[in-house]
Amino acid sequence: MTPEASTRSASGAEAESLAEIHGAAFDRPWSAGEIAALLDSPGTLALRPAGDQKGFVMLRALAGEAEILTLAVAPEGRRRGLARSLMEAAVVQALVRQAQSLFLEVAADNGPALGLYEGLGFEIVGRRKGYYDRGAASPRIDALVMRLSLNR
Ligand SMILES: CC(C)(COP(=O)(O)OP(=O)(O)OC[C@H]1O[C@@H](n2cnc3c(N)ncnc32)[C@H](O)[C@@H]1OP(=O)(O)O)[C@@H](O)C(=O)NCCC(=O)NCCS
Repeated sequence: MTPEASTRSASGAEAESLAEIHGAAFDRPWSAGEIAALLDSPGTLALRPAGDQKGFVMLRALAGEAEILTLAVAPEGRRRGLARSLMEAAVVQALVRQAQSLFLEVAADNGPALGLYEGLGFEIVGRRKGYYDRGAASPRIDALVMRLSLNR
């Protein structure tokens, strides 16, 4: 099955269910209201599996550039290739929207996500020092800016 065939766009009416998945994946979850507002903003879409697996990717494609806003897979659905297929579908959507590059930000200590993005051909193009605050007991973590060239 192609990645495009196995994913579908999510509507604003699904914000609650996307928030539930986001909350299962991140320590600082986005609310359904935040997700609905993002989905209502220009050039923004969320892709989720056509079946009942719990994951989604959100991207924004505007003015020749695209950006991954978030990628989340619930713990029970991990290591089955879902994130890779969601990212591949996001790349297709960025291409359809005529983006030249796809950007994302990832915490420098997020080994699973870094492995995924490097495997897809993303390259590190920048670093934001101490961007992520993990609370008083932990050191701040750098954000890595990664880019996939879509000029093929
Ligand atoms: C990162 C995340 C999206 C991966 O989802 P997933 O569906 O488990 O990923 P996949 O099964 O598609 O794995 C694709 C590749 O990612 C890497 N990867 C994923 N999980 C990994 C892990 N626990 N350890 C090491 N590498 C991992 C591997 O390179 C893997 O390829 P492989 O299976 O051939 O080794 C998921 O762990 C998650 O939601 N984490 C919390 C939220 C997050 O960090 N989002 C990204 C923020 S930038």
